[in-house]
Amino acid sequence: MGVLAGKEIVLGVTGGIAAYKACEIIRELKGEGANVTTILTASGSQFLTPLTLQTLSKNPVVMDLWNLISESEIGHISLAQRAHLLLIAPATGNILGKIRGGIADDMLSTVVMATAAPVVLAPAMNTQMYASAAVRENVAVLRSRGFLFVEPDEGELACGTVGPGRLAAVGKIVEMVRIVLAEKILKGKKVVVSAGPTAESIDPVRFLSNRASGKMGFALARAARRFGADVTLVSGPTALADPYFMKTVHVRTAEEMQTAVDRESADADAIVMCAAVADFRAARISPTKIKKDGGGWNLELSPTVDILDRLGRDKGRRVLVGFAAETGDIEQNAIGKMRKKNLDAIVANDVSRADIGFESDDNEVRIFFSDGEVRELPLATKEGIAVGIWLALHGKLFAR
Ligand code: CTP
Repeated sequence: MGVLAGKEIVLGVTGGIAAYKACEIIRELKGEGANVTTILTASGSQFLTPLTLQTLSKNPVVMDLWNLISESEIGHISLAQRAHLLLIAPATGNILGKIRGGIADDMLSTVVMATAAPVVLAPAMNTQMYASAAVRENVAVLRSRGFLFVEPDEGELACGTVGPGRLAAVGKIVEMVRIVLAEKILKGKKVVVSAGPTAESIDPVRFLSNRASGKMGFALARAARRFGADVTLVSGPTALADPYFMKTVHVRTAEEMQTAVDRESADADAIVMCAAVADFRAARISPTKIKKDGGGWNLELSPTVDILDRLGRDKGRRVLVGFAAETGDIEQNAIGKMRKKNLDAIVANDVSRADIGFESDDNEVRIFFSDGEVRELPLATKEGIAVGIWLALHGKLFAR
């Protein structure tokens, strides 16, 4: 179950052209099990009809503070009290000014004033307006009061100008909601996660790599971030977009990955090596493209550095977790690797199965701990497995 299941979210929609994106936000939130009640401001209703929001949210849309029927059914105080989170997307310059100034002259501004729930603001406006002294100051003051912001993206705006002001991507706004609502079991922890394959060049056009997609590692990084950790993701080449709200370091080779992991993990509490680091690289990289000559080709390989093994030799107080991709004798191989590399735990999966492992969106793993305990995580999405892995690691390794 995702972090949004059963959550009460109040979505405020104010009057900007990005209001139409509220429809997609509702779908995403509801798709993950949240109950969404929409408050549409008078200006917002110039861009979107209440019927649209009502149909998508499957809840009555709240508009008028002085409407006796809606006030008796969903009063502004009860709405403010039952919300786990209030999201305003898009948030105009006007609503930011009203919240900062303590003005409560309509339903949305009144609910903001009356709620103790976290408030996430996703501003969207013309670049010049966003850069104006009033908006800059309002954002700074609201931040200092604990309001959370999803900054606008840069790009072409509806008014034709190019610059910051476009409503942040829906995926980014929803990720912020997940981050705010998730339990903070990893708060104060610094975590480094590696992901993806590495690629070892043979010549300017060829390289050695493997089938790792990066999905499991990216899911682990996202889950740790939601659980409140300070996360750095070190990723080999993948087709995936960088996760939001964390530092992502891109590397190509095992050597580059080692440099990045070492640099980022000096003061880390935990390092999870999910990357499928290449075990071999070309003994010599040809500076020019190697030509075929009609015969075969013997490629001489050298071992790469074993990043996890090195970390295990100088472990300090850091929690070290490895992954073992196996095609047979899973338990024996995984435990052997854990012992050899001095790990606290190893996550083993069977990559011979087509329904899990490489490229798949699903996984099924067993976690072996150094004290002999084994936890099984049954078939689930990699997102779900990532949550399960952190819950298990937290219970065993961090809560001590
Ligand atoms: N690993 C690493 N550096 C390497 C190779 C692997 O840090 N050069 C890490 C992986 O990120 C993973 C774990 O070590 O967490 C996997 O252990 P390993 O014994 O190297 O697994 P395989 O490479 O699959 O070993 P084998 O080919 O012998 O099965």
